[in-house]
Amino acid sequence: MSVTMAKADTFDRQAADAFAARVGEILNAGAVAAMMSIGHRLGLFRVMADLPPATSAAIAAAAKLNERYVREWLAVMTTGGVVTYDAGRATYALPAEHAACLTPGAPLGNLAVYAQSIALMGVVEERMLDRFRNGGGMSYADYPCFHQMMAEDSAQTVVDHLFTALLPLADGVTARLERGIEVLDAGCGVGHALIAMAERYPNSRFSGYDLCADAIAAAQQSAGAKGLANVRFAQQDLTDFAEIERYDLITSFDAVHDQKEPADFLARLYRAVRPGGVHLMQDIGGSARLENNLAMPMAAFLYAISCVHCMPVSLGQGGAGLGTMWGWETAEAFLQRAGFSEIERHVLPHDPLNVWFVSRKA
Ligand SMILES: C[S@@+](CC[C@H](N)C(=O)[O-])C[C@H]1O[C@@H](n2cnc3c(N)ncnc32)[C@H](O)[C@@H]1O
Repeated sequence: MSVTMAKADTFDRQAADAFAARVGEILNAGAVAAMMSIGHRLGLFRVMADLPPATSAAIAAAAKLNERYVREWLAVMTTGGVVTYDAGRATYALPAEHAACLTPGAPLGNLAVYAQSIALMGVVEERMLDRFRNGGGMSYADYPCFHQMMAEDSAQTVVDHLFTALLPLADGVTARLERGIEVLDAGCGVGHALIAMAERYPNSRFSGYDLCADAIAAAQQSAGAKGLANVRFAQQDLTDFAEIERYDLITSFDAVHDQKEPADFLARLYRAVRPGGVHLMQDIGGSARLENNLAMPMAAFLYAISCVHCMPVSLGQGGAGLGTMWGWETAEAFLQRAGFSEIERHVLPHDPLNVWFVSRKA
């Protein structure tokens, strides 16, 4: 026992032991999450979901990977409770109930996509140490694969539900899209949501703006490959966005809280919407008050993403750095202050960590 522990007569040894065990669990879970990212990126979960119980050699062959590495990864996944192991046959299996949240198109959403964020935290740790000591922000270019990862995330929270759950939130919008309107996706990333809308509604015209040249290049390439004439993408820093009453529908999918100044950004979007137009916004569903988020599933994960990405990219633009967990109350207040009316807030079953706002310009 250390000197500090021995001296403190209020020291609860049982509580200390229980917490040390908890730290062990945290280390195990973190290790499994980092390795889950590797499994996701290499297609190992998809391969295992399609195989009967198989040896490490068979799994490695099916995934076209090195057996020795795959066997060690399987040991992590087995001890981490992700795959099952038959020691007699030396075979591994991914139960269907586990594949249900770890594979592309999985019915519960592919949660392995989010494991990539844990891996990304390690990539930026050295720079984070510096920012903790000296302040300052980060740039999107500091995060390799960010836009690809974001596209995988929004494929399952946005693109897959656009026509069944999201656009129908805004009464009358789908009929207007059929007839032909002007649409902007602000902070469009690689543009998959806008491209899906452009394909579905040929009478409407779609614009996508994003700060990052690589994301816009990918969006232009995808739209070009589909031969779409009613969608355009442009690299633009929306900090200075100054279009006036040009759009009937503006969407922003997970793209407000990490702007330089979210309040000013929403005011600019308001000015760009025509009277009678609609803003559809997805953002993180946490509360602005830490104490309200204690029971929120994955709150620690979201605060961590905030700390290493969303807050620093806003600070890196010289901005407010409100962070991922700026809170739905803040978002709602900023929408009101921007001038929007009839603000509706929705939480959808397919996307429980986010909140969806539909707001209108009178
Ligand atoms: C979390 S990502 C969401 C991307 C996309 N909407 C999606 O759902 O996949 C936020 C996006 O906002 C963009 N962004 C951040 N600051 C911006 C700015 N000042 N001007 C334009 N876009 C910006 C980023 O480049 C990034 O693509």
